[in-house]
Amino acid sequence: MGILEGKRILVTGVITDSSIAYHVARMCQEQGATVVLTGYGRLSLVERIAQRLPEAPPVLELDVTDEEQLAGLADRVREHVDGIDGIVHSIGFTPQEALGGNFLNTSWQDVATAMHISTFSLKSLSTALLPLMKDGGSIVAMDFDNSVTYPVYDWMGVAKAGLASTARYLARYLGEHRVRVNLVSAGPLRTMAARSIPGFDELADSWPQRAPLGWDTGDPEPAARAVVALLSDWFPATTGETVHVDGGFHSTGA
Ligand SMILES: NC(=O)c1ccc[n+]([C@@H]2O[C@H](COP(=O)([O-])OP(=O)(O)OC[C@H]3O[C@@H](n4cnc5c(N)ncnc54)[C@H](O)[C@@H]3O)[C@@H](O)[C@H]2O)c1
Repeated sequence: MGILEGKRILVTGVITDSSIAYHVARMCQEQGATVVLTGYGRLSLVERIAQRLPEAPPVLELDVTDEEQLAGLADRVREHVDGIDGIVHSIGFTPQEALGGNFLNTSWQDVATAMHISTFSLKSLSTALLPLMKDGGSIVAMDFDNSVTYPVYDWMGVAKAGLASTARYLARYLGEHRVRVNLVSAGPLRTMAARSIPGFDELADSWPQRAPLGWDTGDPEPAARAVVALLSDWFPATTGETVHVDGGFHSTGA
């Protein structure tokens, strides 16, 4: 029996089979969960990727900046499952002008776009689905450690700092609903979002040498495993927490 037996999990953020969310969805199913996906943009592509999962899940359209789609999300999810036990937020986007060393010249408009999609969306998604979490549940979002600066990551780092704070406030406000909110802070992984960061290689190449456990930028499974664990009943008293899945990189000074 899997650790998610009987649970109903909504997973956002699948766009390719290298997406962290794809591996989370796969492992959720392997651990016994019923999965519903949301997809953004190229929906037919998401549907095609979804077919590769052990069981093809329904795919619902969701742009996290679209208030109408958010307002109708709970009803659309209800067509497939009668409630939700877990939500995976695996969404990030930053305009090119907000990355790659342009920190001092980035406009507010570009920063606002990054924050709307990468940060505020955790609140929007959580509140949109709260009516379906009648028995409590677990919300997990994907973080990239933001306690220090990195080359090229720029305003995405600021957006991730905001995401971490948003998760803590959600943990505070959703505790009374018995909903836990936690983050998995992953090391660099070669996904579509990562490829759009100019200079990502510079960031990624230093990781395996400094991480005490080493780090494989082509293997999203360790991060996905941590997400699945946090979705399960094995962290019943943990909320507002960040679990680092980065080979230990964050714990070393040099
Ligand atoms: N790849 C890494 O190195 C790494 C490391 C740590 C954390 N993360 C985080 O993991 C999460 C998933 O990223 P990934 O690396 O799997 O890349 P990915 O490109 O596979 O996933 C990013 C997802 O965000 C979605 N998205 C973008 N704009 C959206 C919108 N307006 N509405 C809804 N969805 C939208 C995309 O459709 C895509 O599915 C992100 O939050 C990312 O910051 C990534």
